[in-house]
Amino acid sequence: MPTLFRKPREIRNYLKSVRCESKQSIGFVPTMGYLHEGHRRLIRESKIQNDITVVSIYVNPLQFGQGEDYERYPRDLERDISICAEEGVDVVFAPSDEDMYPEKPLINIEIKGLTDILEGKFRPGHFNGVCTVVLKLFNIIQPDRAYFGEKDYQQLKVIQRLVKDLSLPVEIVPVPTVRDPDGLALSSRNTYLSPEERESALSLYRSFLLAEKLFKSGNTDANLLKEAIREFILKHPRVKGIDYVEIIDQDLKPVSEVKIGDRILLAVWVGNTRLIDNWRLGDAKV
Ligand code: PAF
Repeated sequence: MPTLFRKPREIRNYLKSVRCESKQSIGFVPTMGYLHEGHRRLIRESKIQNDITVVSIYVNPLQFGQGEDYERYPRDLERDISICAEEGVDVVFAPSDEDMYPEKPLINIEIKGLTDILEGKFRPGHFNGVCTVVLKLFNIIQPDRAYFGEKDYQQLKVIQRLVKDLSLPVEIVPVPTVRDPDGLALSSRNTYLSPEERESALSLYRSFLLAEKLFKSGNTDANLLKEAIREFILKHPRVKGIDYVEIIDQDLKPVSEVKIGDRILLAVWVGNTRLIDNWRLGDAKV
């Protein structure tokens, strides 16, 4: 069983001895719990590359906006701990809100051109909440490496830039998205979907295959690809709307002419569930 810590001071002291006395490397997987196969992949990567793997389980209120799903976000600490045990996690950190935020933080972390676009535009304050909690967690755990899924691609880019701009002594390791066999990207929020909604949610992945096919047959006009994606997704009965479909380069800048390695990013409402997904163009055989 992993050792469970609730208090930042206690885990910090424990890991200090791991780091200083036993000179062991620390891999860190930050999560909001309700662990699935995608999290297992992050944990496995960390276990390969580090002596000790720490998983944090904390539904961070700061990254949810008003009217979002903070209250109903799925939580099951016991189940999460047994998944961590199965995966051979060494330490689980599951703090309370009082321990993470004894006072409402006054800091506001903004990375111009990265946190105010795409997700940041539709969820104002979201990345401030993500960056604040990730920075706090990095300060508490002080990991050598931290593992982030490509599923939240913008989050990954934001964290990479945070680390670069602040010279944080941690290596950010990206891990590819894990999908169900039919293509749905794994997310704790998939638990909100009814069977009919899940069927419509498959349109996200299938729209990527469509775009990939168009791209492979010589269509490089980003507007044409985005329009084809929109049209395809909106045909599905449980799709309520699309927040955005964008095609971006390595620096998250929208492109007009698409090249290999550019990424489609999208956010779609299926019923009352908001799903995000992304796709790197030029890789898949379609
Ligand atoms: O990706 C997530 O689950 C969260 O945004 C993170 C990184 C754990 C911060 O709360």
